[in-house]
Amino acid sequence: MYTSFDQTTLDKIVTLLKSHQPEFLSGEKLSKSLGLSRAAVWKNIKKLQSLGYKIESKQNLGYRLHPNNSLLFPWEISDGLQTDTIGRKIYYFDTIDSTQNFALELARKPHENGSVVIAERQTQGRGRLNRKWVSPKGGIWLSILLRPNFEPSYTSLFPMLTSLALAVAIEKTLKIKPELKWPNDVTVNSNKVAGILIDASIESNAIDYLVIGVGINFKIKPSKIVKEIKVGQKKYGIGTLVEENQKASPVVLIQQFLAELESRYNDIISDNTGTIRKEWMKRSSTIGKNVTVTTTTGTTKGKAVGIYKTGALLLSSRGKIQRVLAGDITYKR
Ligand code: BTN
Repeated sequence: MYTSFDQTTLDKIVTLLKSHQPEFLSGEKLSKSLGLSRAAVWKNIKKLQSLGYKIESKQNLGYRLHPNNSLLFPWEISDGLQTDTIGRKIYYFDTIDSTQNFALELARKPHENGSVVIAERQTQGRGRLNRKWVSPKGGIWLSILLRPNFEPSYTSLFPMLTSLALAVAIEKTLKIKPELKWPNDVTVNSNKVAGILIDASIESNAIDYLVIGVGINFKIKPSKIVKEIKVGQKKYGIGTLVEENQKASPVVLIQQFLAELESRYNDIISDNTGTIRKEWMKRSSTIGKNVTVTTTTGTTKGKAVGIYKTGALLLSSRGKIQRVLAGDITYKR
């Protein structure tokens, strides 16, 4: 595990090399600034190269870092992150069972707030409704721990808030216009590119903490994921935001997403939930469609006509408006 707050030698070397880009930095200068032997510097450079950094080394000149913004290390995400709370502490894993489980563990420490847990790959990724979430390398798998100081009924707004923040961040950084599917899916050309899972702990009518899990198919092979998921889940296609041969930075997307999320989180804190609903509906593929909703108690059909202030879907059927708080929807073709 690496974190954004325990500065390691690796992190320090990257910072020094970045500050000299595109020039070379001599091994001697590096070893002096770090208080390390030349051999130790070389060992760390080797380690960074094995982690994916492109570092050129030239006799008499030293080391030069080539730009690469596809590495998800916490110091890369922190560098340029424009938030006050969300992501101030980042925990990074190459492989983990589930970032959601780690964030739930962190929640036991009362001072942890806004912390982000990110992994390159999850072995036990969890989806909504107890489903498996296939999480290979190339995706962005992260969880955010929040301790909002408002009433529990606001919890149901978080899937909407998060998917909206993500859609806006995708629009701004990748120039793709995603759509939002109630309750929390982000789709591109009707294929799901991201999903959101909220775990909440509510105590004596107050929110103790929320863990927001976000799974983004950033650069994955949809066919590989489709192979691994159960037939019942294949309600609609799986997509990827970026194709394998395309160049795009996951770090820039993550930074933008965390900033968009924090800004909308602050909107809720100041009771400005109307804007969130309006913005969500503007991007929604659900409103106006005839849908089938599957909940734990059965299925209902109707026309999606709006979103209630709690985030519930307003369904019109046989002249009556019904509020649906949770479930899965499919569109009638
Ligand atoms: C969905 O079913 O649409 C929600 C998927 C949420 C997946 C994310 S990936 C990061 C976090 N860790 C998990 O185990 N799940 C969530």
